[in-house]
Amino acid sequence: MKGMKHSKVSLTGAIITTVTFPILLVSVILDLHGTIHNIYFGFITYLVLGPLFIAGLLLIFIGIFFFKGKEDIGLFTFAYLKDQFTSPDRFAKLRKLIFLITALTFANIFIIALTSYSGYHFTESVGFCAQFCHSAMEPEHTAYKNSPHSRVACVECHIGKGAEWFVKSKISGSRQLLAVATGNFSRPIETPIHGLRPARETCEECHRPELFHGDKLKAIDKYLPDENNTHVQTVLLMKIGSGGYRGAEAHGIHWHVSPDNQITYRHADRGREQISEVTLSKADGTQLVFSSDEYTSEPRGENEHDAGSRLMDCIDCHNRPTHIYVGPNEALDHKLSHGEISQDLPYIKKMGYDLITQEYASQEEAKKSIATGLRTWYGRKYPELVAKQMPLLEQAIAGVQAAYTENVFPEMRIGWNTYRNFLGHKDDSGCFRCHDDSHVTASGKTISQDCDTCHIILAEEEENPEVLANLAGY
Ligand code: HEC
Ligand code: HEC
Ligand code: HEC
Ligand code: HEC
Ligand code: HEC
Repeated sequence: MKGMKHSKVSLTGAIITTVTFPILLVSVILDLHGTIHNIYFGFITYLVLGPLFIAGLLLIFIGIFFFKGKEDIGLFTFAYLKDQFTSPDRFAKLRKLIFLITALTFANIFIIALTSYSGYHFTESVGFCAQFCHSAMEPEHTAYKNSPHSRVACVECHIGKGAEWFVKSKISGSRQLLAVATGNFSRPIETPIHGLRPARETCEECHRPELFHGDKLKAIDKYLPDENNTHVQTVLLMKIGSGGYRGAEAHGIHWHVSPDNQITYRHADRGREQISEVTLSKADGTQLVFSSDEYTSEPRGENEHDAGSRLMDCIDCHNRPTHIYVGPNEALDHKLSHGEISQDLPYIKKMGYDLITQEYASQEEAKKSIATGLRTWYGRKYPELVAKQMPLLEQAIAGVQAAYTENVFPEMRIGWNTYRNFLGHKDDSGCFRCHDDSHVTASGKTISQDCDTCHIILAEEEENPEVLANLAGY
């Protein structure tokens, strides 16, 4: 304590800790209790006050040991200690001091433990990942909220298990915080991501493709741009297959992730769309190399500098398991099929499509133009309907606006189709990056594009497809 008095450094530290201690304690308790739900409150508590408190403590010790000042009282030298212990008077003083220090140390350890514990949970929360970096993460967060994984925390996918990932994620996280604070991040955020990319093990915590079996019936609802917004369906029998387990052979779509089939590939572009060579290594040691001469640029590996190749995993197909952005047609079809946009409004599919595919400077501008656009058009063409069915039109306006705002983010330069979904073959991407009959082995074998390899098409854009009626038994 005396040492402290003699050191300005320690004194500064002591002031900082004394001031922050009560505020920090109250804030952490309020946070744990859930009284204040504000992301900035958490930020101040855990990323400003917490480190400040620890810095204060460090300053106290640094001051005692390194900046004692001229009138060194010989703290911790042998002679000094001996003196303290042998004189009864001094010993009584020392005892008090020891009690005080022990009590303070416990209080400090308690608050540090509490702060680190809840601070750790704070930096792992969806709120911290998504809302704190609002403008940067808004697109991902919006798409995530409407996805099957909306109750899986960001960190469950983006941060693996173990100490190495912990360190990696905190380093990467600090860099990202800095980037957001300075506004220095790319718009849109580039994909595929390298730093915090979900690994196969992360998906396999919850999903086990080796246990998948059988086919899955998939009916896709669509609406035509005609007066009745005619409802049509495409029906596919998806060959989900299996990764192979307990003697069952790997087959179908999840054949790729069997331990017996290792697929590596080289790509010529950053987005991994131009695949120049695919190598299939089987458990029995045989290897098949399929190459395409379509891409002449130098193949790239994972890094700019690495000419190696990439091992195919879940995310080469499921690159949008949760940040699912859809195209303008699909976005409106979903809203129509969920009833958010009424099918009874004539030409709503066509009008909605025309409005959402225009260029807007911001989501606000888009929402305004969509609302005025629809109100004016229906007011002119269907005045009676508008007079009678105003709520229906207002609901449809909200639906069309949502179709836009859930998928297009002008502030982040995300337009329709900025992020490709590889689960399918839109624009000859996705599966057709390899399954295009133009990647061939030396002996002329190709990676099949036969339409029955992955699914059986039971109906294509049909009104009331017979196959569904048969299945339903009427
Ligand atoms: C189900 C797993 C999963 C969850 C949960 C998840 N992500 Fe992702 N995220 C992914 C995958 C897969 C990618 C694409 C990886 C790639 O292509 O390299 C991705 C990509 C991203 C990207 C890069 C830009 C892009 O869209 O490709 C950002 C930013 C991101 N996620 C943020 C978040 C945030 C914030 C949350 C929580 C609100 C979250 N993620 C939750 C799986 C997940
Ligand atoms: C913490 C658990 C968890 C993790 C980790 C996880 N998922 Fe899921 N996933 C789920 C749950 C739960 C559902 C089912 C949601 C439902 O039925 O609505 C689901 C659904 C899915 C579906 C089906 C979606 C649909 O349209 O029916 C796919 C595909 C999928 N996950 C892929 C992935 C991939 C790829 C990863 C790794 C990047 C992953 N998941 C990580 C829990 C998880
Ligand atoms: C070759 C591409 C590919 C790879 C690799 C792949 N999947 Fe899939 N997966 C698909 C396709 C295609 C579907 C069917 C999607 C649909 O419903 O139309 C699917 C469906 C699924 C489903 C939903 C199954 C169901 O019955 O509804 C889950 C869960 C899933 N995959 C998880 C995984 C996980 C985990 C991995 C990695 C271990 C993985 N997939 C690897 C292409 C792939
Ligand atoms: C990186 C390249 C690559 C991509 C991307 C890819 N595949 Fe494949 N796939 C292969 C190779 C290689 C084979 C084996 C070809 C052979 O031996 O005939 C294969 C085989 C298959 C088979 C047959 C498996 C069996 O039972 O033998 C199915 C089904 C399949 N793929 C579905 C898909 C689907 C669906 C997608 C997209 C979601 C996809 N693949 C994307 C490389 C790829
Ligand atoms: C390598 C696997 C693979 C091959 C080969 C393949 N498909 Fe597909 N196809 C898919 C997957 C995966 C989807 C996505 C299903 C979904 O929406 O989840 C799909 C979707 C479709 C759809 C529905 C798209 C929509 O949204 O309306 C049609 C139609 C289709 N395929 C037609 C074909 C035709 C025609 C061929 C033959 C030239 C073919 N496919 C070959 C994997 C394949």
